[in-house]
Amino acid sequence: GLKKKEVNVLCLGLDNSGKTTIINQLKPTNAQAQDIVPTIGFSIEKFKTSSLSFTVFDMSGQGRYRNLWEHYYKEGQAIIFVIDSSDKLRMVVAKEELDTLLNHPDIKHRRIPILFFANKMDLRDALSSVKVSQLLCLENIKDKPWHICASNAVQGEGLQEGVDWLQEQIA
Ligand code: GTP
Ligand code: MG
Repeated sequence: GLKKKEVNVLCLGLDNSGKTTIINQLKPTNAQAQDIVPTIGFSIEKFKTSSLSFTVFDMSGQGRYRNLWEHYYKEGQAIIFVIDSSDKLRMVVAKEELDTLLNHPDIKHRRIPILFFANKMDLRDALSSVKVSQLLCLENIKDKPWHICASNAVQGEGLQEGVDWLQEQIA
């Protein structure tokens, strides 16, 4: 058969936002982990869509590991940035990390697509994706294609829409 195009994706966002849960849901059922634990450092994962073969750098979001992110920026051809929509207290921290990412020399001048997941939409006090988008000032991102989806990674809701968008940007 045809060989799928290979794409490196960076999965970024604060600890506990749901990055590993999202990536796990995108893998075939027989490759999914049953128990998800906080990521130490990072983990390399793979999943496929109809036309692409993704290699994901699933980074730890813990403060002490966030300095690892930038070492992979050069290799990344797309970014998945995950936000815990119910974590209002740390929305400003998520914005700081996003702004640092967007201003990094290895990211700043590249038209790299960014897919945002406003995750944990199932929680009672979750903010809408529109509100998350406003708090992160996403409308200020003018030089990169971006898209935000509300998601519930535990149930797998909202993930396909996001991945379809990402595939369109790259294919
Ligand atoms: P680090 O690896 O520490 O950076 O965290 P992470 O972003 O990979 O988060 P992880 O996927 O480990 O999920 C953290 C916790 O949030 C787990 O208990 C998940 O089950 C839970 N979780 C993830 N997504 C959702 C969601 O959409 N809704 C709810 N209610 N819980 C979620
Ligand atoms: Mg993780």
